[in-house]
Amino acid sequence: MIFLKTDEEIELMRESNRLVGMTLGELAKHIKPGITPAYLNDIAGEFIRSHGAIPSFLGYKGGPGVIDYPGSICASVNEAVVHGLPTDYVLQDGDIISIDCGTEKNGFCGDSAYTFCVGEVSEEVKALLRTTKESLYEGIAMAVEGNRVGDIGNTIQTYCEKRGYSVVRELVGHGIGRKMHEDPQVPNYGRRGTGPLLKKGMCIAIEPMINMGSKNVVFERDGWTVRTKDRKPSAHFEHTVAVREGKADILSTFEFIEAVLGDKAI
Ligand code: MF3
Ligand code: CO
Repeated sequence: MIFLKTDEEIELMRESNRLVGMTLGELAKHIKPGITPAYLNDIAGEFIRSHGAIPSFLGYKGGPGVIDYPGSICASVNEAVVHGLPTDYVLQDGDIISIDCGTEKNGFCGDSAYTFCVGEVSEEVKALLRTTKESLYEGIAMAVEGNRVGDIGNTIQTYCEKRGYSVVRELVGHGIGRKMHEDPQVPNYGRRGTGPLLKKGMCIAIEPMINMGSKNVVFERDGWTVRTKDRKPSAHFEHTVAVREGKADILSTFEFIEAVLGDKAI
């Protein structure tokens, strides 16, 4: 069941998503060689709570045999695609790290992700990040009333495959609102003109997961981390958007990240 949001509800969603953007901006100040995802996780948890919200990933139900999610953020390094646990791994110069963050405030959820460079990253990997981020905005441009979910996925897939990258199939974007995951599913691949019709007031998280090598992934034994099968790098960017007539309304923001990164932003 797809829930359409009123303008008032969308403003509450914007507030939760703005806090996600602020949290990612705070983390951007700390990401450098020598620090650990666990340290970033602590900063994020405190930052979110000090702004009157809850980190919505913490305790997320993993299903039978899988531990509930133990962190406030997902931190996915290099070949990790998404859902990386905030471990004590020490970040190295040349690594990339996707930070995915979610909040719940006033009953509504925010969800956004950004892949950061750690120190100096190769041009080849930076090109992967750039393409993934651009594909997110290409997909967002399709999130308007009257289009279909498949128009978003097809646009992202075409954009990335043209540049020699591959699209992960096992994980998809999603509707979002009072719950972090609502209908519909929003794949980063698909056919134009297929899938659910987009209507104004629908809120969706669009989140391309794009691999340098093959599209295949494996699920790690830790119950959460998803990594590329060939261990080549993967990038992930995510925005929460509201579908409108004519132009999508981006509710999350990278402005706080970009203010910190300055001309180092990819
Ligand atoms: N933010 C992720 C998504 O985009 C979900 C994180 S999984 C969790 O769907 F367990 F950490 F919550
Ligand atoms: Co999401």
